[in-house]
Amino acid sequence: MDPALDHIRARASLRPEIGVILGSGLGAVADAISLEGGGADVPYADVPGLVASTVQSHAGHFRIGTLHGRTVMAMCGRVHMYEGLSAQQATAPMRVMAAMGVNTLLITNAAGGLDPDLSPGELVAIEDHISLVNLAGGDPLRATDDRFVSMNGAYDAGLLDALAQAGVARRGTYLHAAGPSFETPAEVRMMRMLGGDMVGMSTVPEVMVARAAGMRVCAVSGISNSCVHSLDDPHVTTADEAWDTLQSIAPKMGAVIERLVPLL
Ligand code: HPA
Repeated sequence: MDPALDHIRARASLRPEIGVILGSGLGAVADAISLEGGGADVPYADVPGLVASTVQSHAGHFRIGTLHGRTVMAMCGRVHMYEGLSAQQATAPMRVMAAMGVNTLLITNAAGGLDPDLSPGELVAIEDHISLVNLAGGDPLRATDDRFVSMNGAYDAGLLDALAQAGVARRGTYLHAAGPSFETPAEVRMMRMLGGDMVGMSTVPEVMVARAAGMRVCAVSGISNSCVHSLDDPHVTTADEAWDTLQSIAPKMGAVIERLVPLL
């Protein structure tokens, strides 16, 4: 047996069907997940093959439990490639979720708004992505047996409709940058020109590995800050600014997840 599965199954008897990834500042959304009836919190650091998150705003455990009568496996905090991990290490939790039986995955993240019409605090459903990381050789499926997986329709059309019903009607293209530095104004203009509506440092590797494992996937960005398009704009993006906005995004994201789960 897989040692990661053995470890988790020794602690949680529930068999999760829905996976949820709670990004920066969104960990509190997991409070609504009940541990009764065989659920458990399992730190990543204790699971063979996984590593702990080093980002302050990210807790570092799975919460296996129930939400509106559905069994869920939530990641309270994620690990990122910018922590020094390979794309394979950063996506190892997706392999564990798939092995646990998760077949539908909802991913959340914080993102910068590239589209000047997007305001901090808004939620946007990801309908497609552009990954500068993958295109430059950082594809998480590199050196795995999962080759030539189609990414057309990676964000499930039915789940996008369900997200609209759950209150996230706006859709956009997520541009994936490696981070952890924020972009220069010239990079922001380039990303917008390429077709990105929002930019962030996560999600895409998770989507790709989840698709390779056969899961249905949807993802929502909470806009934590507006990107700076011009050197004439004196605004300096900071993690604290993004964090403050996330405090107001977390309850909205929680409400969306609670409305979405019964629709899945
Ligand atoms: N850029 C990249 N990633 C981000 C940003 C940003 O402005 N905000 C939140 N994640």
